[in-house]
Amino acid sequence: MKDRKLLMIPGPIEFTPEVLRAMGMVTTSHVAPNFIEAFGQALERLRQVFLCPSGQPFVIAGSGTLAMDIAAANLVEPGDKALVVNTGYFGDRFAAILERYGATVTQVRAPAVGDAPALEEVETALKDPSTLRLRSGQGYKLMTITHVDTSTAVGADVKGLAALGREYGALVVVDGVCAVAGEEMRQEEWGIDLALTASQKAIGVPPGLALVVAGPRAMETFRNRKTPVGNYYADWTQWLPIMEGYEARQHRYFGTPPVNLIWALNVSLGQILDEGMDARFARHRRLSQALKAAVTALGMKQVPVSPDKTATTLTAPYFPDGVDRAMLAHVKEAGVIVAGGLHPAIKARYFRVGHMGAVSMSDILATVGAIEKGLAQVGYKFEPGVGLAAAQAILTR
Ligand SMILES: Cc1ncc(COP(=O)(O)O)c(C=O)c1O
Repeated sequence: MKDRKLLMIPGPIEFTPEVLRAMGMVTTSHVAPNFIEAFGQALERLRQVFLCPSGQPFVIAGSGTLAMDIAAANLVEPGDKALVVNTGYFGDRFAAILERYGATVTQVRAPAVGDAPALEEVETALKDPSTLRLRSGQGYKLMTITHVDTSTAVGADVKGLAALGREYGALVVVDGVCAVAGEEMRQEEWGIDLALTASQKAIGVPPGLALVVAGPRAMETFRNRKTPVGNYYADWTQWLPIMEGYEARQHRYFGTPPVNLIWALNVSLGQILDEGMDARFARHRRLSQALKAAVTALGMKQVPVSPDKTATTLTAPYFPDGVDRAMLAHVKEAGVIVAGGLHPAIKARYFRVGHMGAVSMSDILATVGAIEKGLAQVGYKFEPGVGLAAAQAILTR
């Protein structure tokens, strides 16, 4: 009997065999020609995956939090004002990081867990006359949006929010850690100045890479800084020549690059582009609809308050009445690992299923089957197969 479990958490995800083979290749020098070529190609491919032809990509060893740190360290100067559109746990984190670099942060919070602030509320904040009394004489320097808040599975209206940010002259920064290469995001077309993610989610590479694509306005803001970047490792002054060098197929050194992770990144980006971005977004939407239909058919509510506020890379069902997280051990016994709750206000009341990257139709069906088994094991009453039928109705359409 196979004892391997299917990993359906919101990152790290399941990786393709080709990506894992790249991780296992004999490590070469970071100046070896095959590494220089792969790094250069990965940088070019990142622009295509982020749909940002005029962006400057950065690939730096670290996790998604480093990518957030890089954005804040390079774009914020002490005294700047920043607006955080907060849909959960990771909005709080971005606010804390921005404050660490001296920003004065205003947060527009969701009215309830599982909700997102309305565009009108964000516009009201952007218009606030008090923002005109800034040291610089301008409004918000930047605004951050969490594309998918991984604690709540709330998906933000990034396109609408980015348009607003632009209208009011704020740099638009998108935390796409649980989104990029899964959720639809068109960085350049939607006016996003900086988008960031980490390797272990929909990008499909083991944890360890912070990925950032900065558009021309973000790079100009960085170049016009009056104060030095207050973080040595995150400073683009050090990293820009490295990225430009590798893209020109020349090696440059600042910090030793994670050779195998970058090989794996290049393989995964190639697979993503072979699928095509539109097809990839559509696949994520369909698999998400199938899982969500199953959850509803099984009588479970979800944390996001409505379908238009829901992510496609992640599903967050509340446990049904009388069921608690003990059920998750049975889901695991049935072969699938899902994640527990994360948002402190509701942590014990829900669980999370990640479905991004190379996830397939059969992964969704296996997950629904394991959830049904888990529910049955803890005595929840339902018609066995009702979740599977709801998922199949969408998958076979
Ligand atoms: C939306 C979001 N932002 C930031 C992070 C932080 O990324 P990391 O855990 O790789 O530091 C996560 C992690 O799950 C996330 O989901």
